[in-house]
Amino acid sequence: MNRSLQKHYEEIKDLHLRELFKDKSRVKKFTKQAVGITLDYSMNRMTEETLSKLFELAREADLKTEIGRMFRGSKINETEGRAVLHTALRNRGNTPVVVDGKDIMPRVNEVLAQMSEISNKIRAGKWRGFSGKKIKNIINIGIGGSDLGPVMASFGLKHYSQRDLNIKFISNVDATHFVEETYGLDPEETLFIVASKTFTTQETMTNAYTAKSWILAASATESSVAKHFIALSTNKEAVIDFGIDPSNMLEFWDWVGGRYSLCSAIGLPVMINVGVDNFFKLLDGYHQMDNHFKTMELEDNLPVILALIGIWYNNFFAVETSAVLPYDQYLSRFAAYLQQADMESNGKNINKKGEKVNYQTGPIIWGEPGTNGQHAFYQLIHQGTKLIPCDFIGFKESLNPVGDHHQKLMANMFAQAEAMAFGKTTKEVLETETKDEWLAYHKTFEGNRPSNKILMNKLTPEILGSLIALYEHKIFVQGIIWNIFSFDQWGVQLGKVCANRILTEFNSAEVLCHDDSTNAAIKWFRS
Ligand code: F6P
Repeated sequence: MNRSLQKHYEEIKDLHLRELFKDKSRVKKFTKQAVGITLDYSMNRMTEETLSKLFELAREADLKTEIGRMFRGSKINETEGRAVLHTALRNRGNTPVVVDGKDIMPRVNEVLAQMSEISNKIRAGKWRGFSGKKIKNIINIGIGGSDLGPVMASFGLKHYSQRDLNIKFISNVDATHFVEETYGLDPEETLFIVASKTFTTQETMTNAYTAKSWILAASATESSVAKHFIALSTNKEAVIDFGIDPSNMLEFWDWVGGRYSLCSAIGLPVMINVGVDNFFKLLDGYHQMDNHFKTMELEDNLPVILALIGIWYNNFFAVETSAVLPYDQYLSRFAAYLQQADMESNGKNINKKGEKVNYQTGPIIWGEPGTNGQHAFYQLIHQGTKLIPCDFIGFKESLNPVGDHHQKLMANMFAQAEAMAFGKTTKEVLETETKDEWLAYHKTFEGNRPSNKILMNKLTPEILGSLIALYEHKIFVQGIIWNIFSFDQWGVQLGKVCANRILTEFNSAEVLCHDDSTNAAIKWFRS
């Protein structure tokens, strides 16, 4: 990918973190802070020279210019001919952002005002169902970007939520999801938010029609739909066709990518959950990180640093995956959210010119909250044959300071990073644990397993916004360096088209012309 970096990699690839940490100023040199986030990246298999070569790589990709193009609204999503302006959704400074000759900020603010009005009405118990009962259950029906962001942030900010409201999410086309989430609920107290950028997604529309039947079975009058459905979409016609009152529709725009849409109307369930002020604080946090990313020199720029570290492992160490390990139960859906954000953005093998790339692009993102992961998959990270860089995410203060839980939680986080980095040599095991050499080999930890520590004071709405934006921009930087389009997702189309075709074949006697395995499966299902 880059000759000078490749040569440098060959020179330092076997250097152990034990060696690198002999430099007593390493942690100071490899720690940066911004907007309430401290990034300690000292436990990475790199030297100052590595970083300076990586920054050079970013400069060669003209990263600063590309950042400017995104924020200005250039149509950088070229295969769809669209601007990429999720940053405008949280542009709290309200500086004009022009798309096709028009400032989009007034419309962004209008939708935020509409969302606020709806949220306040529901939270105050003033939104009533068809029978006059207060709405208590809010069910978001959406999938992908119209689900994962709101799910992650609703869990993430549960501490700040209004507890008498029951916020739920239905995404899977498997009816079990619908049936279980609505089990025992009173339709008269239930409001559905149908969240779909396109309003054509099979899973979402199927669930939405089932929801409509569920409400109509209780009320028997079409006009009830108005009181029990809100739509979040870019497709007004389809919303009207479905039967949702356009005054209950909140708009967003084609320049908002699904997986980057949490700050748009798609964030409505989060706003209802945590209230208008907290939602605006979330936007403030995003905006602070946006400004940091836009203005800060590359060497001090947290998303850039995180991205370059990822490139180092992905493209030089040939690492395939990256683990995200939040030591906070509220962030239990954070890795799942990042999976879509990262893998749908950078899972591409064609460069911007339309040529096949001859280097690795997006990594596999996965993770679970600590300490659960420790008792599941950390064994492989410590002693397996694969190198898995980890992001440890932790907070100084707990939102639930009960006994010494938090001290134990954080002690575990720091200990895992330390054990991964430095391990335990066979000699140390023989000196401290056993005299049996055979057993000592099994108890040896090679170490040299890299990680970042992302440290924050407390999980507030602002800090969650900044943390999400940190990762969003990391993904952007990597896409620029890999020279791929990060904002389309053609790779999910083929499966959708095939599924629709197979669906029609289930109910016809038509001769099947798939491959033998697919034909056999369809016949098995038909029978
Ligand atoms: O899975 C593909 C995808 O297009 C995602 O990018 C998107 O977040 C999801 O489907 C849902 O799309 P929509 O919001 O249009 O229903």
